[in-house]
Amino acid sequence: MSTQATAHLDRAKIAELTEREQRRLDESTPGSSAMFQRARRALAGGVASAYQERQPWPIYLERGVGSRVWDVDGNERIDFHNAFGSMPQGHAHPAITKAVRERLELGTHFAAPTEDAVAVAEELARRFGITRWRFVNSGSEATMDAIRIARAQTGRDTIVKIFGSYHGHHDYVMVSIGVPYDEIGDREHYESLPYGAGIPQSVADLTVPVPFNDADAMERRIESLIEEGRPPACVIMEPAMMNLGVVLPEPGYLEAVRDITQRHGIVLIFDEVKTGLCIAAGGAVERFGVVPDMVTMAKSLGGGLPTGAIGGTEEVMEVVEDGRVYQVGTYNGNPLGMAAARASLTEVLTPEAYAHLDRLNDRILAGCTGVIEKYGLPGYAIGVGSKGCVTFSPQKIVDYETFKETQDAELADLAWLFNMNRGIFMTPGREEEWTLSVTHTEESVDRYVAVFEEMASDLTS
Ligand SMILES: Cc1ncc(COP(=O)(O)O)c(C=O)c1O
Repeated sequence: MSTQATAHLDRAKIAELTEREQRRLDESTPGSSAMFQRARRALAGGVASAYQERQPWPIYLERGVGSRVWDVDGNERIDFHNAFGSMPQGHAHPAITKAVRERLELGTHFAAPTEDAVAVAEELARRFGITRWRFVNSGSEATMDAIRIARAQTGRDTIVKIFGSYHGHHDYVMVSIGVPYDEIGDREHYESLPYGAGIPQSVADLTVPVPFNDADAMERRIESLIEEGRPPACVIMEPAMMNLGVVLPEPGYLEAVRDITQRHGIVLIFDEVKTGLCIAAGGAVERFGVVPDMVTMAKSLGGGLPTGAIGGTEEVMEVVEDGRVYQVGTYNGNPLGMAAARASLTEVLTPEAYAHLDRLNDRILAGCTGVIEKYGLPGYAIGVGSKGCVTFSPQKIVDYETFKETQDAELADLAWLFNMNRGIFMTPGREEEWTLSVTHTEESVDRYVAVFEEMASDLTS
């Protein structure tokens, strides 16, 4: 964290810059505006997923190659969004393109297993040290099935999650995510709040949120659930939170969670949909050295094709292997996705690639920290592997409460506009982080830092 005295930020100036940058983006994206007018007549809200919505219109993309993407107006940007972290391989990587093209010629889907699925499972087992795998098509499917497996294995219904963490769009986990600070509830007894309409409160009540980075609070809640006769089947958590910018686990936290869950016979699920292949070859398991009972993955696994995975110990996956749990799906292990994943794992996300990503991330984090210190901005740069962000907050964010309490949302919005207007395609949303790809270079990350410096200078001049 920056220890410099922070500059006093003039809110009127932030508003003025935001208006200026918004106008500039509108003026440079008339094609997206026209596409939105057309799209909204057939596509609900003009987009395929609510996370693609944006006011006054979304930026529609046309193509991407390597670290670059182009929108329908021909604006070229360096991609730091990378499909919410699905593309650390970069776009249209030749090795993945070749593998998928070859597979296309051989038939795209059989709903029968292929050798590529075996090879991908073997490689994931090697990387994560977790022995049994199944494939799905998205992160949501991975977390949904993992929870069902944990419930079957333990014979319990309740699940514990971290307040503020996103684990996909099914009912079990669309609970206690983005809610206003004053609705969180008592830290010892957070509310189980459905995230959006259509989720029965009775389902939400089975999901009990606890704060991140507080193992004692987790254990107290687990003990109270046991006393209430509702012992948890699982704790599902991101080992490093990637949906509040980046919030790293404090030293000893994951080890303590591992110990607590083991002592109470609770299945520990690391949701590695975002951390997965992005922060190390063996994800958070390798990076932080704590081995859960299950991991869930998606995003970066498929090299841009919709693919996900569930890994588990032999003990946990027994309920799948003996047929008690129907872990099923017509498109599970789809040959195109498996061909892409295999090429990605064996030819793209190599040890050298991870060294490259670490080097670039160190460089961008150091660059952003330098700007924060030079201009006295209230914030800090934080990251791991290919992931990182500048968190605009005068104090360190360790969980959802501190995020809601101290994040400067106006600065986060302004930074996004600054980036988009200066050739940086950045993840939208105040909770998101950058994902670097193997095709990024020192020039790419220096460009990011230069744009950040321009914003800092405009803000403080
Ligand atoms: C940690 C985490 N888990 C699960 C999901 C759900 O993945 P998907 O959108 O592929 O269903 C996401 C998506 O952002 C995620 O960040």
